[in-house]
Amino acid sequence: MTDKAHAELLEDVLSRYEQSSNPRLREITEAAIRHLHAFAEEVGLQRDEWMAGIQFLTATGQMCDDRRQEFILLSDTLGLSSLVEMITHDGTEGSTENTVLGPFFVPGSPPRQRGESMLVDADDGDRVVIRGTITDTAGAPIAGATLDCWQNATAGFYAVQQPDVQSADNLRGIYTTGADGTYEIRTVRPVPYPIPSDGPAGDLLKAHGRAWMRPGHTHMWVRADGYKDLITHVFDEETDYLRDDAVFGVRDSLVRRFVPDASGELATTFDIVLDRR
Ligand code: BEZ
Ligand code: FE
Repeated sequence: MTDKAHAELLEDVLSRYEQSSNPRLREITEAAIRHLHAFAEEVGLQRDEWMAGIQFLTATGQMCDDRRQEFILLSDTLGLSSLVEMITHDGTEGSTENTVLGPFFVPGSPPRQRGESMLVDADDGDRVVIRGTITDTAGAPIAGATLDCWQNATAGFYAVQQPDVQSADNLRGIYTTGADGTYEIRTVRPVPYPIPSDGPAGDLLKAHGRAWMRPGHTHMWVRADGYKDLITHVFDEETDYLRDDAVFGVRDSLVRRFVPDASGELATTFDIVLDRR
């Protein structure tokens, strides 16, 4: 088949989607078709390779259930989720960057007092403090904002991954800013942990010699009336895998150093700027 025949085929395929009554669906479908054809052409995709791809995607779907979403994990490890977050987040200059949500968020974390530790179970990790002020883009403090936080234990897993080992509320909690917009969280120093690697997304990482680790981080979902939700992380500057995050979630603006504060606690400051809705 010649390049001309490929081009005629693409034109024919695209023309069959021209009648769509949904303009956005049409735009997305046509772009997907164009890029898929260009991809197959670029690599000279053979029938057996196409079939291997079909089998890989089939296995990815078969791995999914109401607790495991292997397609999102695949999207994460290809950097697509991170790109979609960047495109979707239309934050104004100076507002805090967002990053991936990940699969381990569980709604209904317990409310925590200012300065309370979210650590419920025994854990031999370093204790740390994360404190900061939540403001709007003009610098005005936001009182009553909530920070829904979750983090893995030092053993490398989130409570939701180990219902028989960890307490359900271990290392999760909802903090609220005071009248001056400040908050204070006590937790353990976040350590790197493996993303689920026992499915097709993990197989692909292994086939390419890639690590399936994430750098140490604490998740935050920040909400305040009149402001856009912010889903983000704080990363430890000294953690491993900061430059080799399996899911491409690291943003330089979210990396912080833990240093002893006046009372000798390992602490860091993470000020947050929210965008008006
Ligand atoms: C997480 O940070 O919890 C996470 C994000 C994406 C994939 C796996 C885990
Ligand atoms: Fe995480």
